[in-house]
Amino acid sequence: MIQKKFIVAGNWKMNKTIEESNAFMSKFASYVQQYKSEIILLVPYTNIESCISISSRLNIKIGAQNFHWDDFGAFTGEISVPMLSKMGVKSLLVGHSERRRYFGETDEIINRKIKKAVSSDINVILCVGETSEQRECNKEKKSVMLQIKRALSGVSKTNIAQIYIAYEPIWAIGTGKVATPQQANQMCRFIRMCIENMYGTEEGMNFKILYGGSVTEENCREIFLMTDIDGVLVGGASLDPDKFESIIKIADSISNEGSD
Ligand code: PGA
Repeated sequence: MIQKKFIVAGNWKMNKTIEESNAFMSKFASYVQQYKSEIILLVPYTNIESCISISSRLNIKIGAQNFHWDDFGAFTGEISVPMLSKMGVKSLLVGHSERRRYFGETDEIINRKIKKAVSSDINVILCVGETSEQRECNKEKKSVMLQIKRALSGVSKTNIAQIYIAYEPIWAIGTGKVATPQQANQMCRFIRMCIENMYGTEEGMNFKILYGGSVTEENCREIFLMTDIDGVLVGGASLDPDKFESIIKIADSISNEGSD
């Protein structure tokens, strides 16, 4: 029997002007408050303040898609964790494959960012995932394990519950090529095992693991039904309030089936 409170996180990436963001939020606000899932929206910096003001009476956390590993200083163009935390940001995305690929984020940078983020009380979503070449030569687990070990190096047992991992196979992001629920679940189970080995059985069991990569209202049900998947990280489908809401509704309906 499933008795889960699912996590539904939306990553808007570099989308939505302030007007578009406000239009989304007012529509979303009209139906979101009754849901049981943990809802996170990772929005561009320019939309954080208005999203927080609209979402403050709702069951939804606003997060940022990037941040710097230092608190302040001569880092032109960067935004720090204290700046975000003082605004009311509740979640931070780290290690997204687009940041690794287009902005040269290495495992070392990701590790510095995670250590900074967990020193505040903000939740962190760490993204990991393999390329299609790595999967073709059966190196997907090795690649994911290395990303996890390097990203979490020096992160203590006390802080591990603050982190969620999103398994996002790179070949499935924005491509419409979703991993099969079984492929996704196998990797999520492997991630749980890595956490168990690094932090202990209980930490592994309670650890939250999301799947991301072309998640839609059409394919999410089967994903939520998988044993080792606690939620989803949604890109494209989170831009439309109706589609995003449908995914949350499906997550909620599965949790409710479990509690009957
Ligand atoms: P997608 O993006 O749902 O558009 O594939 C997922 C992500 O990049 O987090």
